[in-house]
Amino acid sequence: MIYLEATANIGMEAVLKREAQALGMKNIRVQDGLVSMEGKTEDISRLNLHLRTAERVHWVLARFEARSFTELFDGVYDLPWPDIMPKTANFITEAKSRKSQLFSLSDIQRITEKAVVNKLQTRYKTEWFEKNGARYRIGVRIVDDLATIYLDTSGDGLHDRGYRKRSVKAPLTETLASGLVQLSFWNKNRMLVDPFCGSGTILIEAILLGRNIAPGLNRRFDFEYWNLEGANDKAVRKEAFEMIDYDSKLELYGFDVDPKALEAARINLDSLGFLDDVTLREKDIAQLDLAGDYGVIITNPPYGVRIEDKESVMALNRELGQLAKTLPTWSHYIITADEGFERGFGKKADRKRKLYNGKIKTDYYQYYGPRP
Ligand SMILES: C[S@@+](CC[C@H](N)C(=O)[O-])C[C@H]1O[C@@H](n2cnc3c(N)ncnc32)[C@H](O)[C@@H]1O
Repeated sequence: MIYLEATANIGMEAVLKREAQALGMKNIRVQDGLVSMEGKTEDISRLNLHLRTAERVHWVLARFEARSFTELFDGVYDLPWPDIMPKTANFITEAKSRKSQLFSLSDIQRITEKAVVNKLQTRYKTEWFEKNGARYRIGVRIVDDLATIYLDTSGDGLHDRGYRKRSVKAPLTETLASGLVQLSFWNKNRMLVDPFCGSGTILIEAILLGRNIAPGLNRRFDFEYWNLEGANDKAVRKEAFEMIDYDSKLELYGFDVDPKALEAARINLDSLGFLDDVTLREKDIAQLDLAGDYGVIITNPPYGVRIEDKESVMALNRELGQLAKTLPTWSHYIITADEGFERGFGKKADRKRKLYNGKIKTDYYQYYGPRP
């Protein structure tokens, strides 16, 4: 058994916990932006490949009290670094500290690195490590004087799925977009519309979910370069490929007023072979007519902070509200940083959830339609 952690956007922890449960993790605990759990070495592969709302997966190596640099040094030195990393390891240390006696991040980093180097030197007789091999990001997080030492098994953040070939202004992070879809009542049997689709992030994340495609299948993770015994990464990848649902018929629509945004969406969808699942059309929200029952709208309209001015944002929200009135059986989910959203839309949300899009504080307005 090993200890693992997955980091998440603030507000997405409950979704991430559900994902970890579905992957069979044990003793799952939730803190702000962090879900910790117990699993097997193989789960490092499984979590990196399958988690949709996590930003990184940490393998926790130790937890101990560190009120002084001596305690920190000793705790780090005690770990079997020469068994964990080869002589060529390109190791980097990253420190965080909150409510603790040790608070200077550069000192925490320096002492940790010194302990790692001294321990490696007990086996590798060298003064100087060239660091020209695989990357190992060593994390030290000290909270309330309790140090957690971990390895970042993901490397590049998990939002980087490898499909964003072209972007637009203010795209949603992929992890957040997946969370939005998971927080909605959309499933692969329902129509999904994004009237402000931009580069297509929500649509793509919905297809990944609907077809049961592990979001990490198009990329690599740092741990895959570590010769990690028991990771079984090839078998876990194979298993993920076998789980894909190629047969379901999906019905998704993406609209945007900007042809460049649609081009970006087309390129991104095409890079995954998803073009057949989506109809993309250039359309101003004011001209948009939708038909059918029990459809779902999940969208991220422009919000004044970064793009449009407040007045035109209000007008767009009004259009979205008018559209909603013509679709009484539909459910509507809107993420925006515009605090006056409900006034423009013309209705109070059934539920409002605080979420972060990168550093921007947003709300997710949820309007539940009747169940099909
Ligand atoms: C915040 S971005 C959406 C980003 C998208 N979620 C993504 O991840 O790429 C808002 C989008 O709304 C589009 N837009 C602005 N005004 C519009 C209008 N009147 N009708 C339709 N789309 C509009 C913009 O072109 C932009 O692509």
